[in-house]
Amino acid sequence: MWDAQGKQYLDFSGSAGVNFIGHGVESIVSAMTSQARSLEFVHLSQFTTPIAEQYASELLEFAGDNFRGGAVYFTCGGSEAIDTALKLARQYQVEIGNFGRSQIISRTQSYHGATLGAMAISSSKRPREMFRPMVREFASVPGPYPYRCPYECSDSCNNCGSLYAQEVEAAIAAAEQKVAAIILEPVSGAAVGAVVPPAGYLERVIEICRQAEVLMIADEVMTGTGRTGRNFAIHHWGLAPDILVTAKGLASGYAPLGAVLISAKVVEAIAYGSGSFVHGFTYSSHPISLAAGRATLKHVRSLNLVEAADSDAQETTAAKLKAGLLKLRTLDAVGDVRGIGLLWAVEFVSDRGAKTPFPGADNFSGKVAQAALERGLLVYPVQGCIDGEAGDHILIAPPAVISPEQIAWALEQLASAIEEASA
Ligand SMILES: Cc1ncc(COP(=O)(O)O)c(C=O)c1O
Repeated sequence: MWDAQGKQYLDFSGSAGVNFIGHGVESIVSAMTSQARSLEFVHLSQFTTPIAEQYASELLEFAGDNFRGGAVYFTCGGSEAIDTALKLARQYQVEIGNFGRSQIISRTQSYHGATLGAMAISSSKRPREMFRPMVREFASVPGPYPYRCPYECSDSCNNCGSLYAQEVEAAIAAAEQKVAAIILEPVSGAAVGAVVPPAGYLERVIEICRQAEVLMIADEVMTGTGRTGRNFAIHHWGLAPDILVTAKGLASGYAPLGAVLISAKVVEAIAYGSGSFVHGFTYSSHPISLAAGRATLKHVRSLNLVEAADSDAQETTAAKLKAGLLKLRTLDAVGDVRGIGLLWAVEFVSDRGAKTPFPGADNFSGKVAQAALERGLLVYPVQGCIDGEAGDHILIAPPAVISPEQIAWALEQLASAIEEASA
C-alpha cells in the first residue's frame, strides 16, 4: 500500500484481519463491475437474485456437512451479522416453545462488534464501558488463556479444556433455563489475541449446549474464509455449531459483507413454525457486495489460499510466518507468541519471568505499531488482553499471498520496532 506521500507499506495485519487475498485483485473488481452493470439492487422483500442464490449455496458447501440444508443471511459486516445471529437464536427458542430463553452467554474478554446488540454480549471493557448502562447485561465466562492460565497449570492448558468447559456448564445452570445461546470465537481474535483453545474444550462446550437445548453461535468474523488454515476455524475440531457468523475475509475488504450461516435445525424450526424470520436490513444481500464475496471465494479456491494459511503443514506461507514469529520470543519485551494459520499475536511484558504487563498508560503496543509504521510495516495494536485494561499485544494477520521475502523483511522490521519501543 502507498499513502498520499508515496510512502510504501506492507500490510502485515490484513488491515484489521480483513484482507486475505491481497490488495488490488482485478478479478474481484471486474466481478463487482459486471454485477453493477446487470443489477445493482433489489429489495429482498420483492425479489431474490441469482447472485444471492448461487453464492449462498457455494458458501454453505464451503462450510461443510454441518450446514447442508441450511441457509445464509447476508449483511453489510460483522456487527450486523452478530445481531442477526442473536435474534435468530431467540426466535429459534420461541419457535420450539422455549419462550423463557432470551439470554446469551459470551466469554469474558471477547469482542463481537460495535452495535448495541453486539456490544451487549462483548465483555471486553475498553470498547463498552461508557455504553454499559445502555445495554442488557448477560453472564460471561472465562475463555482459555494458556499464557495466563487462571487454573495456574504448567503445561500451556493441555489439560484445562474440561475446566474451562465447566464454567460454561455452571453459567447455563445458574441461568435456570433462560439461556438461548452461547457465543464464542473458536480462536480468539483481537480481544485476547489469537488464542488457540486446548484440546477437548470446544467439543465439550458443544456437548453441554446440546444437552441444555442451548444453541452454539461460532463468531468467525475474523477467523472465517481460510484465515486459520481451514475453511472455517471450527473445522480444526470438527465442530458443528448451530449458527456461524463470518465477515472480514469473506469479501477481503473489497466490499462491505458479512454472513450468518444457519444450520438446517434452526432453518426448519422457523420454516415449519411461524414461517419467517422477523428481521431485515435494507442492504441485506446487496448484489455488488455479494459479487465481491463470490469472486473472493473463487479466488481463494483457485489459488489454494486456505492451504497456504495452514501453519501446521510443511513449507506453507503460514508455516514460514510461524517459524519466524516464534523467534521473536528471544526479545526481552516479548512474553508470548501464539496463534494458528495466518492469525498470530505477540504479547508484550515488562518482566518475562513474572509476566508483568506494561502500564496501560505507556501504550506499549501502540508504540510498537508506530515504530513499525515508520519502517513501512502495518500491524494491529491492541490493549487490555489480560482483563480489559491491562496487557498489550499486536495482531499479525497478513494476506495469504505474502511472499517468503516479504515475511522475512517484515519480521526484521517488527523486531527492530519492538526494540525501539522497549528503549
Ligand atoms: C470476532 C469479531 N466479531 C465481530 C466483529 C465486528 O465486525 P465489524 O467490525 O465488521 O462490525 C469483529 C470486528 O473486529 C470481530 O473481530
